[in-house]
Amino acid sequence: MPLSASELEARLAPRKIQFYESVNSTNDIALEWLQSGAPSGAAVIADEQLRGRGRMGRTWYTPPESALVVSVILRPPDRTLHQITMLGALAIYDMIESLGAADLGIKWPNDVRLNKRKVSGVLPEAVWDGDQLRGVVLGMGVNVSIDFRTTDLAHSAISINQALGRTFDRVDLLDRLLRRIDHWSSRMGTQTLFDSWKNRLVNIGQTVIVQKGDLPLRGTAEAVDTFGALIVRDQHGTIHRVTAGDVLLTSDEDHP
Ligand code: BTN
Repeated sequence: MPLSASELEARLAPRKIQFYESVNSTNDIALEWLQSGAPSGAAVIADEQLRGRGRMGRTWYTPPESALVVSVILRPPDRTLHQITMLGALAIYDMIESLGAADLGIKWPNDVRLNKRKVSGVLPEAVWDGDQLRGVVLGMGVNVSIDFRTTDLAHSAISINQALGRTFDRVDLLDRLLRRIDHWSSRMGTQTLFDSWKNRLVNIGQTVIVQKGDLPLRGTAEAVDTFGALIVRDQHGTIHRVTAGDVLLTSDEDHP
């Protein structure tokens, strides 16, 4: 069923929302709205996204009626900004857990994995005015009814409906997700948010291959630091600090 503006407004009130049947990227619209004064918590929602942007310059296409495509505007204190990527993953994790899912985890830094496959992506983008943080757009895509089973992504991607064997109402899912965004955004900068994210990571203790700058690096993911960087020990025992700007190529978790 297509999303409708009137139903979204009624269900998500009093939150300020903008709804589009089809957009290039909800993050682009939210970035403009942030600049023109959107309140914290405002959300841009779309049914179809043609040129969605993903991490590392990748694209994130979303067919109509198949997913959650949402960008939330937040105005956190700038000293807490490193937690924004944790916040998005945590809110999606909680929303899916609330549906009764059991096999859930966060793949560093912010992919939620359901039945060991990627169910969502998070793309935060900050807006600065010199050294002043004006705000951040937290873009989230969650697969709801896309059937990946006959596609090239059959072993790497999954949808909520497929994993849980039920058909979920996307407005209800958006409502649950945005409530968890509110919950965690009021806890930005806290140890609780960091610990909750860290405790849900699936990579710790696993072999990982990471592209750090020009170098592919193989080692064991030993920990994360409070800024969210992954601490990797290579085969010579050298410790590397891997940040979200580096690419996690693969880990044991990708090969169940
Ligand atoms: C990833 O590469 O894993 C992150 C994908 C993020 C996609 C979401 S969908 C809503 C928002 N709008 C965009 O253009 N991108 C994000």
